[in-house]
Amino acid sequence: MNFETLKVDISDHIARITLNRPDKKNAMNPRLHVEMTELLETLRYEDDVKVLVITGSGNAFCAGMDLKEFFHELKVKNPKEFRRVFRMAGEWRGRTLRQYPKPTIAMVNGYCFGGAFSIVEGCDLAVAAQEATFGLSEVNFRGFPGGPVSKSLANIMHPRDALLYAMTGRTFSGSEAEKMKFVNFAVPLADLERETMALAREIAAKDATALRACKDGYRYSLEMSWDASISYTAAKEDEVYMAQKGGWIESGIGDFVEGKYKPGLQGNEEVGGGR
Ligand code: COA
Repeated sequence: MNFETLKVDISDHIARITLNRPDKKNAMNPRLHVEMTELLETLRYEDDVKVLVITGSGNAFCAGMDLKEFFHELKVKNPKEFRRVFRMAGEWRGRTLRQYPKPTIAMVNGYCFGGAFSIVEGCDLAVAAQEATFGLSEVNFRGFPGGPVSKSLANIMHPRDALLYAMTGRTFSGSEAEKMKFVNFAVPLADLERETMALAREIAAKDATALRACKDGYRYSLEMSWDASISYTAAKEDEVYMAQKGGWIESGIGDFVEGKYKPGLQGNEEVGGGR
């Protein structure tokens, strides 16, 4: 897996994807969208990978869209190619991450602007450096949060926060992002990697099929009626049971029934065939 704009390291069943254009603050140029689309498709089928962590190199997480290459050049000079890449750019941050069959964590190490909000929102979890700087800077260049960003704001931010930051272009810190629950928690930059990777390892130790069902059950239920959700999760329970070859009932609950462990206080990592 050789990419110009991305770095990938796989260890402990965790794929760490680094947006790797530090000299451009990891702004997303057309090539990055093409490479990310390819990479996510590859990792989707990589059995050894159970959790993805997305971060940035240098002092930026991601400065949003590459304003020069994406808008100033491609949109103006090659509208057809722009439409192709624009679709990819929205898909990987939106539908692909949201429906990804493995948990995803954004590790926000620094600048996070505009389009990067959709990476943070598309990931299941997010951890930020307290020192990170977030901003919806579009209004400052006479734009607005376009592509999937407006929907990301609507999905995850409180309306007061979303519109305040979208309409002023003011920045906020990782600590403030934690208070508004745009990220799960924020830690000092020096601890960011350790804390995030510990979280990723904790999740990677769980059953892969159960993790996928956690995501699907939650995310699809958001868009369903109560009745549809009950029906969907009932079917999902059977799907998980079959994929694990009976695992969650036979050994997962079975071990509890036999007094071997207390699921309320600890995980049972050995529930059978679904890993
Ligand atoms: N698109 C294209 N290039 C970008 C970029 C972006 N979104 N963000 C940063 N860069 C480039 C700069 O143009 C500069 O390139 P150069 O060295 O060839 O001149 C390089 O990255 C470093 O940026 P610089 O501005 O010198 O660093 P800084 O630390 O002073 O400021 C930012 C960093 C991120 C605050 C500033 O670059 C910025 O405001 N970027 C635009 C952010 C934005 O509006 N994003 C929303 C996009 S949807």
